[in-house]
Amino acid sequence: MRGVILAGGSGTRLKPLTNVTNKHLLPVYDKPMIMYPLGTLLKAGITDILIVTGKESAGDFMKLLGSGHELGCRLTYRLQDESGGIAQALSLAEDFAGSHKFAVILGDNILAEDVGPAIKSFEADKAEATVFLKQVPDAQRFGVADLTGDKVVSIVEKPAKPKSNFAVIGLYLYSPSVFSVIRSLKPSARGEYEITDVNTHYVKSGKLGYHILKGEWTDAGTFESLHKAAAIARNSKKI
Ligand code: DAU
Repeated sequence: MRGVILAGGSGTRLKPLTNVTNKHLLPVYDKPMIMYPLGTLLKAGITDILIVTGKESAGDFMKLLGSGHELGCRLTYRLQDESGGIAQALSLAEDFAGSHKFAVILGDNILAEDVGPAIKSFEADKAEATVFLKQVPDAQRFGVADLTGDKVVSIVEKPAKPKSNFAVIGLYLYSPSVFSVIRSLKPSARGEYEITDVNTHYVKSGKLGYHILKGEWTDAGTFESLHKAAAIARNSKKI
């Protein structure tokens, strides 16, 4: 099983902090943000990891993480030239993934839970894709999954009136079939290749599994959520 961290994008909602550096290098409690999604993959036993980032700060990521040797992993880097969306960033992982199933985590997602068991069961399973869901009070900020029985029946990106309070978090498990799905996508109204469109493809073909997160989770892409991320990081240190 391989891992991909998506750390491109423009971090617009965190300006002026992101005028001078990449969002994923900002501090979250005692570490740069990207160390948390990296830690989530390492804890799950994934040590072959691709980092996708923009060209402005690529050297800073290398300065921070190097080859991965000191962290006990092997890191590969790829550049996303423009912020064309999460699915576009993911398309850059095709050669890296080869014929392997893999986990993708967004560089601004902070999880307290060990997702190793869910990842291992996906590896052994027939499912082509798996999403992780978390009940939240502000679902309209996220991709939102509607569940009927034990199936995800729809996912809508940032709906004005969410059908449930299950946010689709920024951790996804895919088989290499995802790359032909991405090739079939069209850009959304905001001009991005959306990960929700990728997952909707698997909803429609009946091949999407899901896992409900019990532990704490947040993204860190707004001032409020960045603050919450620091609190989660601090609390999980105390345990
Ligand atoms: O955090 C979970 C949410 O992340 C999901 O619920 C949504 O379905 C998903 O679309 C995403 O929503 P955001 O609005 O938070 O996405 P954002 O544009 O902030 O991008 C999140 C991360 O994805 C960012 O930290 C780095 C990576 N990214 C994003 C873009 C647009 C890239 O690597 N390249 C990109 O071009």
